[in-house]
Amino acid sequence: MKGERVAVRNIAKRYGSVTAVEDVSLDVKAGEFLSLLGPSGSGKTTLLMMIAGFELPSAGLIEVGATDVTHVAPNKRNVGMVFQKYALFPHMSVRDNVAFPLRMRKIDRAQIERRVLEALAMVQLDAYGSRAPTQLSGGQQQRVALARALVFEPPVLLMDEPLGALDKKLREQLQIEIKSLQQRLGVTVIYVTHDQEEALTMSDRIAVMDKGQIAQIGSPASLYSEPASPFVAEFIGKMNFLPVEYLGSATSGPQIRVSGTSTLSVTRSFNGHALELSPGLSLLAAIRPENISLTAHGFGGPDAIAGTIDTSIYLGTHQIFLVNIDGRSGPPLHIQAPANRNQSTFARGDAVDILFQADAIHLFASNGAMANE
Ligand SMILES: Nc1ncnc2c1ncn2[C@@H]1O[C@H](COP(=O)(O)OP(=O)(O)OP(=O)(O)O)[C@@H](O)[C@H]1O
Ligand SMILES: [Mg+2]
Repeated sequence: MKGERVAVRNIAKRYGSVTAVEDVSLDVKAGEFLSLLGPSGSGKTTLLMMIAGFELPSAGLIEVGATDVTHVAPNKRNVGMVFQKYALFPHMSVRDNVAFPLRMRKIDRAQIERRVLEALAMVQLDAYGSRAPTQLSGGQQQRVALARALVFEPPVLLMDEPLGALDKKLREQLQIEIKSLQQRLGVTVIYVTHDQEEALTMSDRIAVMDKGQIAQIGSPASLYSEPASPFVAEFIGKMNFLPVEYLGSATSGPQIRVSGTSTLSVTRSFNGHALELSPGLSLLAAIRPENISLTAHGFGGPDAIAGTIDTSIYLGTHQIFLVNIDGRSGPPLHIQAPANRNQSTFARGDAVDILFQADAIHLFASNGAMANE
């Protein structure tokens, strides 16, 4: 089995007045693991169903390998699919479920028998062939769905939230199994999830979807460190947002001030839309919990902001502090610090100086649409 490339060109899907997917283009490399990550209703399933051939696009085209498959029937596309619900045939045994795609393809019996056994071994269910799906756990049913999608050795495997119904522990175990299977087989995977941790764990690249469009596509690391919008910044990892005022440009970079506090110098360029900058302009600053540090009040230097500890949480490998900026309402800052057993730590009510790592501050236009707001 060898992966094939998948290309999506300016694809759209409209249901009457609802636009589920709008002008999406995507190039998935052969053997790549690409995740579609986005909130409920952002068009992930619709996009996947068009690639699988179960939905016809309103516009655009889809290629698998060098072939335009836009109008090719699903079973002629050489694409395996694991659906959002397991969708096993309840009246068929595990063995017959897995054999189904091969029977559809009129493969001879001896070969079917051999390939079903191989596929079941691949998902560690060799001993379960004669059971009914109802006699299996959720994780086992999902493995059967995986075996059924892989049994005809498709170069492309599409998976729609395959682990959504499983508990955390089983989900993590199957994430690793799917990833290692994908790497062993070299198959191209397009994987839908709304769980950012799952996407970060499994993917070579992630396409973040928002309202039927791709908000940003890139490696997990690039999305984490260079989010193109507040939406992506909020969706991948934990991010603090602060309204700030632009003061002017210094040699070190743009100068900003958190409303009602001292000056912060910033060396990072602006994200998002190009802005017409003038002193006094309101911006939205975004900074990750691990890029903020704390010292005792009075020790932070001129760029520090005074704050008060609201909550202190010890998590073994690190600590989380929720800190209020003095004189400012709004949600507390989320700060992550390495746990240090030999150092005295901060407790609720302690006065602290907050220091932002200047080159880790992202600036966005203040009207940058935020998720969940
Ligand atoms: N058959 C349909 N008729 C009308 N609208 C539809 C249809 N299918 C999907 N939609 C709409 O298209 C949008 C995208 O739906 P889609 O199922 O692709 O989202 P999703 O990202 O997979 O969400 P979820 O995470 O909840 O599964 C939604 O607004 C949905 O209501
Ligand atoms: Mg869906």
